[in-house]
Amino acid sequence: MNLWSALRLQFEWGADEALEEAARDRLCVAAPPPQSLTHPLAAPTPPARPVGPSMIPAAPALARAVAAAESATTLAELRAALAAFEGCALRDTATHLVFSDGNPAARLMLIGEAPGAEEDRAGLPFVGPSGQLLDRMLASIGIDRTRCLITNLIPWRPPGNRNPSDTEVALCLPFLHRHIALARPRHLLLLGGLASKALLGGKTGITRLRGTWREVAIPGLAAPIPALATYHPAYLLRMPGAKRAAWADLVALRLRLDAAAAAPSAS
Ligand code: URA
Repeated sequence: MNLWSALRLQFEWGADEALEEAARDRLCVAAPPPQSLTHPLAAPTPPARPVGPSMIPAAPALARAVAAAESATTLAELRAALAAFEGCALRDTATHLVFSDGNPAARLMLIGEAPGAEEDRAGLPFVGPSGQLLDRMLASIGIDRTRCLITNLIPWRPPGNRNPSDTEVALCLPFLHRHIALARPRHLLLLGGLASKALLGGKTGITRLRGTWREVAIPGLAAPIPALATYHPAYLLRMPGAKRAAWADLVALRLRLDAAAAAPSAS
C-alpha cells in the first residue's frame, strides 16, 4: 500500500480533520517511558485503554450521563456539564462542543442529528449547507433563529460524519432530555430519523414518522410536548423530490404554532 492509498483509506474511515499539529502514533500509547526519564517517585504508567465507541462501559457511563444532566438547573450549567462529561468518546475527536443556537426562550425547539464539519469548527448547529437550507425552510414559514432554539441529539461531531453508535445516542440522550426540560418549548420539530427515533422511541423510520404530531414525554416535565418529525435538510439536499412532503410538514407546523398562539391559554 503506498502513502496515497493509506491516506485515502484514513479519509474514507472518517479521519478527515487534523486535530493536532503533528501526527500522534496511537499504537504506541502503551509504551512505558524510557527508564532514564522516569522519576523514581513517579506513579506507574497506567495500562493503555482501548478507545472507540463500542468499548465504553455503557451502564456506569450512562449513570454518569444521567447524573451530570440532571445536576444542571440552567442551560448554562447544562452546557458546562456536557463540556465536562468524559463518558462519550466523540468529545475527544471533536474540535468544539455544539450546544445550541437561537433563542432559548422560544416556544419552538428544533432537534437535529449531530454536527458536521462546519458546525464542529464554528461550535454552532446547522451552519453548513444543510443549515442554510434549514434557514430557508424556516424563513418560508416566517421563522428565523430568533424565534426558535436549535440543538442536536449529539453535541459533538462524529469523525467523518459517520452515524453515531447506539451507545453514543444513549449517552447523549439524557443531556438532550434535560435541554428540553430546561428550555420548556411548546413544540418540537425533529429533523431526521435519528433524532425522531431517539425521542419518540421505537424503530419506525422517518418516512412513516414524519408529518404526524406525536407527544414526547420528557423527564422532569409534567406534560408531554407535541412533536412533529420531518425530513432532515441534509436528506432534502440529496433527495429534492422529498421537499414536497417537507413543505407539507412546515405548513402543518405553521398552522399548529398559529393555533397555539391564538388559544386563550397561550401566555
Ligand atoms: N446536521 C445536523 O443534524 N446538525 C447540524 O448541526 C448540522 C448538520
